Formats: sequence, C-alpha cells, structure tokens
Amino acid sequence: MVILGIETSCDDTGIALIEGGSQGCRILSNIVSSQIKIHAPYGGVVPNLAARAHLENIKPCLEKALRLGFRNRSSKKIGLIAVTIGPGLIPSLLVGTNFAKALAYAWQKPIMGINHIEGHIYANWLNPASQIDFPALCLVVSGGHTQLILMKGHGKYKLLGQTRDDAAGEAFDKVAKLLNLGYPGGPIISQKAKKGNPRAFDLPRPMLKTNDFDFSFSGLKTAVLYLVKRQHQGLSLRYSPSKKDCILETVPVSDISASFQQAVIDVLIIKTIKAAKEYKVKTVMLSGGVAANQELRRQMEQAVKKELSKAKFQMPEIKLCTDNAAMIASAAFYKKGPALLKQNWLKIKADANLTILGKVFRNRHPETNN
Ligand code: KG4
Ligand code: ZN
Repeated sequence: MVILGIETSCDDTGIALIEGGSQGCRILSNIVSSQIKIHAPYGGVVPNLAARAHLENIKPCLEKALRLGFRNRSSKKIGLIAVTIGPGLIPSLLVGTNFAKALAYAWQKPIMGINHIEGHIYANWLNPASQIDFPALCLVVSGGHTQLILMKGHGKYKLLGQTRDDAAGEAFDKVAKLLNLGYPGGPIISQKAKKGNPRAFDLPRPMLKTNDFDFSFSGLKTAVLYLVKRQHQGLSLRYSPSKKDCILETVPVSDISASFQQAVIDVLIIKTIKAAKEYKVKTVMLSGGVAANQELRRQMEQAVKKELSKAKFQMPEIKLCTDNAAMIASAAFYKKGPALLKQNWLKIKADANLTILGKVFRNRHPETNN
C-alpha cells in the first residue's frame, strides 16, 4: 500500500510518499518546503502569508514527490491520501485539506484526515529499526504543543499532561526573540548553548514538584527576560587587551541559552520519567520539533537507560522531528482499517483546535477538579 501524505498545518508545505507492508513503512519521497525566510522578518508565522506560500508550493512539492518516489508522475500506485486536518492555523490547514480533497476526487482515491500530533507520534514508526512495545509513552514537544501521551495500542491515546501556557518550542522561540537571535528560536538557541555553561544562571524549573504531569514554560521565559534586563543594566566598559581599546561588554548569550535550554530539558525529562514509572511503560518516545534538540535527545536517552532499565527508548531521525508529511502518512498506515478507508472526500474538514483524544479521557486537574 502506497500512501500519499499531505501536511500544511503551519509554515512547512510537506508532501510525501510512503510504502507500508508487513515490516512497517518505507519512505519513498519526503518533500518539505520551508517558509522560514518569509516569516523570519516578523519573528513568527503570519497565517495569511503562510497560506499563500502553501498555495504556491503545494503543486511543485507534489510533482517532486511523485518524481522522486515513482520516477514518473503517475498517481496509479497510490492507495490512500492522508492529510493533516488539525490542529494548526486554519488558513494553512485549508490549503492542504482542499488540495487533498481535490486529488481524492480527481484520482478517485480514499482519503483520511490525520491529527497533526498523531503524525508527530508516528514519526517514531518511520525508523526501520524501531521496536515499539505498548504501553508506550510519548513526549510531544513542538511549537504549539507539549504533551505527555500514553499509548496502549495503535490509535489508543490517554493524555497524561500538557502545558498550561506556552509550549516548549514556543518558549525557545520567545527566548530567542528577546535575545535578538531571530526565528525560529530552537535551532539558534541550541547552537548558542553549545558554547555556553548550562549552570551559569540558576533559572526556575517550573512545576517540577506538582502532583501531575502538566508543564508551564511562561514563567521560565519571564525569568530569562528579567535576567537579560539585569545583564543589560550591569553592562560596563572594560579594557580589551587584544583590541587595545575599551569595549562595551555584551550580554552572555551562550550562557543564557545553555542555562535556559537545560531548565527546559530538566523539566521535560523529570516529568517523562515519572510518568513512565507510574504507568510502567515498555517504550518511551520523543517527538515534535523540539525533539530535534541534540541535548534533549542525548539526555533523555541517558535518563531512560539509567532510570528505566526495562523500557526501550525511541526517537525519530532529526529531520523527521519537525513538520513533514511522511509522519502523516505513517499515522494513516497504522490507523487504517475498513471503516476509515470508506471516509470520502466530502467528510474531510479542517479543525484548528482538533484534539488527539476523540472520546476524551483526561486526568482531572487536581486543583480545579475539572
Ligand atoms: O513540530 P514543529 O516543526 O512545528 C509545530 O508543530 O509547532 O516544531 C517547531 C518548533 C519551533 O518552536 C522550533 O523552535 C522548535 O520546534 N525547534 C527546536 C529545535 N528545532 C526546532 N527547539 C529546540 N531545539 C531545536 N534544535
Ligand atoms: Zn508540528
């Protein structure tokens, strides 16, 4: 079965072809057209500009995916079209869903709507060496979400906890903005952090001691803001022997980046390990754009080995952590069933606030009991 994946939930236009069989999925082509250059001057994604760029990019991406995947442009071998229907930016989602519906109608193919978060989780199944046993725990960390999701089987999710304010990726983006590092912040902060000392500044580890699996990152971001302000106030002229002149000291960007990154990593790891122990999971997985962070990958793997001797650790290849369409096709492959395949193009609707849970079962909030 060959599945065509389509992803346009935010600012990446993704089209992919994967082939699924008894051994799992194989990527035939995975095209991602990034819009970073368009949005960087604004310091964040501008929804209408994103939609316009998706409209321009989506057909060339499809042509490239067909050419690389099949060496011709034929759609004959495609058995299913899988498209992200939410959560995300509505102008962006509408481009992908309508494009997918038009293809399904014109090519007479079945179509399946996929939740973007589910796609991030299923990026873990794209690794040919992956061995994922249930129950599995997945930490999804992206620009819009930070969630701990327990999986008892394919498509069976229980949301254990999530951020109460900013997502982890959003915190990286906002901290990069206040350090004048540009957009998107995650990759730049992680580069700067390589040269910095993660213990240089004592930043808060929010919600570590709460009796739940929720997160909060907005306070940490504010702590960095005050730290930067204090640094600015304390700047002074000092003599530089190499330049033989007085220079203005600069804010220690690398140390701040490393300290901030470590605070985020500490919270993510401690809560993930706690949930993995409580639910006695057999596999711990990582996914979403922030899972591309090398330090998070390294430290999470180490922590799982040390703290959970019986659990396996699984994470997608770095390029499959950020938004792409192969992960959407992968989710469709593992979810497909006779009922779902009957879903026709008229039933596919974009939903900006789609949740992963379907029939919601969420732990009650301990303080509010709702
Ligand atoms: O999953 P994704 O591509 O899009 C969403 O679904 O949001 O995630 C994008 C987020 C951005 O906030 C970006 O700053 C963050 O992932 N990110 C990283 C890294 N690479 C991307 N955060 C930390 N370290 C990275 N290396
Ligand atoms: Zn994403």
